[in-house]
Amino acid sequence: MTAELAPRRRIRSYVRRERPLKAGAIAAYDRLWPRFGLPESAWGQLGRDQDVVLDIGFGDGEALLTMAKANPLRHYVGVEMYRTGIVKVMRALEEREASNVGLIEGDAQAVVAGIGDARIDTVLIFFPDPWPKARHHKRRLVRGAFLAEVARILRPGGLLHFATDWAPYADEVASLVGQHPDFRENGEGRGERPVTRFERRGRKLGHEARDLRFQRRSVEEAYRVETGPVSPVPAVLKT
Ligand SMILES: C[S@@+](CC[C@H](N)C(=O)[O-])C[C@H]1O[C@@H](n2cnc3c(N)ncnc32)[C@H](O)[C@@H]1O
Repeated sequence: MTAELAPRRRIRSYVRRERPLKAGAIAAYDRLWPRFGLPESAWGQLGRDQDVVLDIGFGDGEALLTMAKANPLRHYVGVEMYRTGIVKVMRALEEREASNVGLIEGDAQAVVAGIGDARIDTVLIFFPDPWPKARHHKRRLVRGAFLAEVARILRPGGLLHFATDWAPYADEVASLVGQHPDFRENGEGRGERPVTRFERRGRKLGHEARDLRFQRRSVEEAYRVETGPVSPVPAVLKT
């Protein structure tokens, strides 16, 4: 874990403004969490035995639920701080008897730091909080140290799919990830990303969503990009 991601110094990308859950939601959480929740002790095992799509900041889960239903053979893991959203998704999963979705409750920065190297096939970050004011830009989730951790957990060839309707955030991520030696650009299509409440709301305000897709390079390729074409690749990287 880098110093920037150490828990005491971590800059939060979220604000806890959630109202307390009502009794029914508390009961649903207590009943369903053992079935769908992944405790911290399981984070290190993620991706060991199956392909995993990690949806970071799934909100009320509209996109997560749609994609998991459309791809029953893929395993989805959603990460969220917001318990109302977690309860909503667990209720939907119970109703449809889904078995290809697991949920993690926690700060994505800590969660990602707990996942092993090269374990995840796809990382989805859809409509992260845009933090539009300049003094809040440091709170944006996709920044240097977090991006390095995303690169670490993705398998070579794995995909990072970022979507936002906040144009300056899209430009920042396009530049940041586009110049990162561990990633190559992989087009801008929305792919399987469904339209959600956030996108509909943004459209009404005249904001168009933009999808940025990047592929994780192999270690050897990333080394070549970083050091230039003439540098010999150390034997230790030729695996
Ligand atoms: C604007 S919502 C987008 C929800 C969803 N991805 C969608 O497209 O509909 C952003 C979500 O990210 C969550 N979030 C922000 N920072 C987070 C973090 N560090 N870890 C986990 N979730 C986070 C917030 O709680 C919020 O629900």
